[in-house]
Amino acid sequence: VTSDPLIQENDSVLLYLSPRKNWIVRARASQEFHTHLGRVQLGNLVGLAYGAQVHSTTGEVLWALRPSLYDLIRKSERRTQVLYPKDLGFVAARTGLGPGQIVVEVGTGSGVLTAFAANLVRPTGHVYTFEARPEFAEVARRNLERVGLGEYVTLGVRDAIGGIGVTGADVALLDVGAPWELVPSLGAALKGSGMLAAICPTMNQIERLVESLGAGGFVDVESVELLLRSMEARTGMTRPSTRMHAHTAYLVFARKVLASA
Ligand SMILES: C[S@@+](CC[C@H](N)C(=O)[O-])C[C@H]1O[C@@H](n2cnc3c(N)ncnc32)[C@H](O)[C@@H]1O
Repeated sequence: VTSDPLIQENDSVLLYLSPRKNWIVRARASQEFHTHLGRVQLGNLVGLAYGAQVHSTTGEVLWALRPSLYDLIRKSERRTQVLYPKDLGFVAARTGLGPGQIVVEVGTGSGVLTAFAANLVRPTGHVYTFEARPEFAEVARRNLERVGLGEYVTLGVRDAIGGIGVTGADVALLDVGAPWELVPSLGAALKGSGMLAAICPTMNQIERLVESLGAGGFVDVESVELLLRSMEARTGMTRPSTRMHAHTAYLVFARKVLASA
């Protein structure tokens, strides 16, 4: 068993007060973080163990936690609709995303799904992602560098409808408004038996996509929606929360097959 390294100068730290009040900061000497609960000296974080407590100038207790990739991602700059962990997790499980794989993705958007996939395929795998709009590609590039995953990603700034120039991919990820238009490009990029996962906010997208997948050399087509219900856990009164996210996206999965000779 090796001991966990202590917080170093410039490390990212999740300053945690409550589920809604938490912030990602850098441990930096002579810098202060201002909250409505007073100030925290960020230099005091250096040398602490992750999980230690720190005090604000008003005596409030905050916890210095190690940010997970999801913490880093949910605090990143967003210009497009991004994915929820329930959907990210199911995409990973259903496609079998794992180390060493080649992944193709259209479109990159803010790069949230890109970062999630890059983290799973590294260090020997790679994500080739395509984004038609340069301003979104720039945001994604910044987000990927900030979470330290840029080296596992190649970002093509162009429309992917005409083809993407990658072959032999294990997994294709699709999150665009007209996913059926990308079936030929992603079909050509995937290897035989490769998995496609599409994120579709609306039902009409699923319908058109599933028609195209059937006609485009894919089998094992499955469409799902995952519902996540939070619990309010209190001694003797535990029950589901009154409100829930009713809808995030539908997920469509399919496997590429090879044309018979
Ligand atoms: C909903 S966003 C993707 C969000 C992304 N999954 C994330 O986690 O941040 C869809 C993106 O696809 C891009 N896009 C749509 N059609 C495209 C195409 N044919 N080629 C490349 N990018 C495309 C859009 O510009 C947009 O940025």
